[in-house]
Amino acid sequence: ALEVIVYDDLRVSLAAPYQLQPKPEVEELGFGRYFTDHMLKIYYHRALGGWQKPEIMPFENLSIHPAAKALHYAVQLFEGLKAYRGRDDKIRLFRPELNMERMNLAAQRSGLPMFDGDELVKCISRLVQIDQEWVPHSETSTLYIRPTLIGVDPTFGIQAPDSALLFAVLSPVSAYYKKSRDGAVSIFADPNVVRAFPGGAGNRKVGSNYGPTIEATSRAEKLGHQQVLWLFGPNHELTEVGAMNIFIVYINEHGDKQLATPPLNGLILPGVTRRSILELASQWEDLTVKEEVITMNNLIELNKQGRLLEMFGAGTAVVISPISRVGFLDMDVNIPTMKQPAPVYQRVKDTLLAIQYGHIEHPYARII
Ligand code: COI
Repeated sequence: ALEVIVYDDLRVSLAAPYQLQPKPEVEELGFGRYFTDHMLKIYYHRALGGWQKPEIMPFENLSIHPAAKALHYAVQLFEGLKAYRGRDDKIRLFRPELNMERMNLAAQRSGLPMFDGDELVKCISRLVQIDQEWVPHSETSTLYIRPTLIGVDPTFGIQAPDSALLFAVLSPVSAYYKKSRDGAVSIFADPNVVRAFPGGAGNRKVGSNYGPTIEATSRAEKLGHQQVLWLFGPNHELTEVGAMNIFIVYINEHGDKQLATPPLNGLILPGVTRRSILELASQWEDLTVKEEVITMNNLIELNKQGRLLEMFGAGTAVVISPISRVGFLDMDVNIPTMKQPAPVYQRVKDTLLAIQYGHIEHPYARII
């Protein structure tokens, strides 16, 4: 029994040949529908001194008590990161230490045990190495890594769990969702629903932020949109879009091109893609980069004045998703994202993919 997760204690038991699953073709991958041959599991038992030895084993169903706190009170969290096969055939992770930091923050929020992120990255890297043939040989697909931490005590009390299970499964993925013909999506801003609120857990990657978005998303889809634009407050501040961070590009009051996204004010998931875009774009001399509050009024006014150039969502799953239309109240705000000669969203996307697939060497990418 250990107080911390220790990679050196990892035990590996490999799947027998008859347990290996056939690998689907890249065209049929979709998002999160297929899983690899192995998984990682690490139990935590307070009574046994904390974190137990990490185990990699053949992929299997979990067996948990029906009273497990994760099932009732969402005492759980998850992460999403990807392994990319580069043109040099090397496999890279993208800033996994940021996912580890965010996991620990979410764990803290729900009384789940915290851990040493470097050790977990080593365990996950080993899992990816074992299942490396599942990392698609394609630059339009990746291996999505889903670390998850759940409270498993078989008791109904709303308390910090004494037992928890950290597991990671791997899924080869391609596009997260279907786009319209021009590659952009239409989004619906419904001022009657919120994703997050001040003091809430909207800035943590916990499952309870995602399940309750389904009804509003279905409503948006019925109205011909693909995603929800999440607003907050009397000024209808833009917060996120779908499960992504939101960005706009516009001409600011000095006549300069500005890339903007809402600040991390507690309502925003601190995305790894979001942060990377801000850091990378702040090096570009022809662009001003700013974290600032953006309201629906700002957006509509900028658009009327012809100063709004682009809008896009950014996240690990989708990477960059250009947005060409926002439905709001009885309005249809058409945004000229797809009409720009050299759009910022494309430059951002190309830069991220070039780092992730090893076209350029960059410290964000970690070869495993
Ligand atoms: C993202 O990677 O952008 C996500 O939020 C993933 C989603 C499937 C929860």
